[in-house]
Amino acid sequence: MFVNFRRIRKCQLVQLMTTCLLLSVAMVCWEQLDSAVISHVKSYSFRYLINRFTYINQSLTIPREQARSFSDFPYLLDHPHKCSGKDVLLLIFVKSSPENTERRNAIRSTWGNETYIQNTLGVTIKVVFALGAVQPKRGEPSWSSRRAAGLQEQLIQENDLHGDLVQKDFLDSFHNLTLKLIMQFHWMHSRCSHARFLMTADDDVFVHTPNLVSYLQDTSRRGVTDLWIGRVHTGAPPVRSKKSKYYVPHEMYQLLSYPDYTAGAGYVVSSDLADKIYHAMLTLNASLYIDDVFMGICANAVSVSPQEHVYFSGEGKAIYHPCIYSQMMTSHGHVDDIYDLWTAATHPQVKQRTSGLFGKLYCTAVKMALLCKPHFFDTYPCKAAFL
Ligand SMILES: *[C@@H]1O[C@H](CO)[C@@H](O)[C@H](O)[C@H]1NC(C)=O
Ligand SMILES: *[C@@H]1O[C@H](CO)[C@@H](O)[C@H](O)[C@H]1NC(C)=O
Ligand SMILES: *[C@@H]1O[C@H](CO)[C@@H](O)[C@H](O)[C@H]1NC(C)=O
Ligand SMILES: *[C@@H]1O[C@H](CO)[C@@H](O)[C@H](O)[C@H]1NC(C)=O
Repeated sequence: MFVNFRRIRKCQLVQLMTTCLLLSVAMVCWEQLDSAVISHVKSYSFRYLINRFTYINQSLTIPREQARSFSDFPYLLDHPHKCSGKDVLLLIFVKSSPENTERRNAIRSTWGNETYIQNTLGVTIKVVFALGAVQPKRGEPSWSSRRAAGLQEQLIQENDLHGDLVQKDFLDSFHNLTLKLIMQFHWMHSRCSHARFLMTADDDVFVHTPNLVSYLQDTSRRGVTDLWIGRVHTGAPPVRSKKSKYYVPHEMYQLLSYPDYTAGAGYVVSSDLADKIYHAMLTLNASLYIDDVFMGICANAVSVSPQEHVYFSGEGKAIYHPCIYSQMMTSHGHVDDIYDLWTAATHPQVKQRTSGLFGKLYCTAVKMALLCKPHFFDTYPCKAAFL
């Protein structure tokens, strides 16, 4: 009895000491924890307030005459009749830059091929490229303005050939991406308002248009409204380090966290929501230059939150496998492999190998092995394996 008692006390002592040791290790680590982690935790708690109240809306609302300065740039290239007279399911805006001709050509002959979608799925989609004006390089002004004029001349020719460039007269630069976003919603409103969905995507994103089209047809049949899908960023804090590309000064955005938004690499909104966003944009201060965050602010102003779709990759990249191809929507960071990926992802064998009871079971096992890894790997989340 006595021995037993002593043994228990010994055990407790060991437990106590282990706990103390672990606690002190944890405290030392906490000290070293990056302030970024802490700001994430803080902002994550804060987002519940943000997503519920209208602080942002009020602080960024400005008179319409002033808001117009963000959308009043004249068109340099335009296609007023691109959508007319057709039942357009999906309008895709690809955010491109004047010099990215090769990327645009790759998209035109792969996932952005309107004719292919029309022929294989019997659905009309429209793909247009959103551009700003050619940026003259710093220094050597005369040489550089000649270069700019030459590039613009090439764009005019490219546009004559394909008829799919939409360009406004603001400088095409990272810090003008919000102006580009506004241009897209304005264009949809005035030129293609009957399209049932609007997608905006980067020019290094691969969109599995056949998968996306069938998903949207289904969504449209169910009469879903206020749809906004993509890879959702929840409770992201503004970056306050001046060294970062995403730096946002306090004067521009005061709160601890952004409202929820989807990664700008590629997301889809339904036309009813696109219309509300367009109207919100008419009264908001758009000087916040991170376009996907600004989209979140506009949606917050009309009380809509984004929904996660596990097969939108955000900044991540798809894993090359037929079981992934059969469900993927977007994948980021494709330039050179876009042709191969398109051929592989749309091969008739993908459907054959992944359908039926056996195909589904096989794919669940494969996807678990591919996606449910203990270490971080930026692709679709583990739960996508069970969809
Ligand atoms: C946003 O703010 C403006 C002006 O403060 C107000 O008129 C509008 O109703 C607000 N919108 C929402 C959705 O709260
Ligand atoms: C688009 O697809 C059609 C039909 O599949 C094909 O004939 C055409 O060559 C493709 N366009 C491009 C630019 O590759
Ligand atoms: C955005 O475009 C405007 C109009 O062309 C230009 O004046 C401004 O410098 C651009 N801003 C940035 C950050 O490039
Ligand atoms: C919009 O916000 C910027 C700072 O983010 C500010 O400098 C500017 O004055 C605001 N514009 C209006 C019209 O209030």
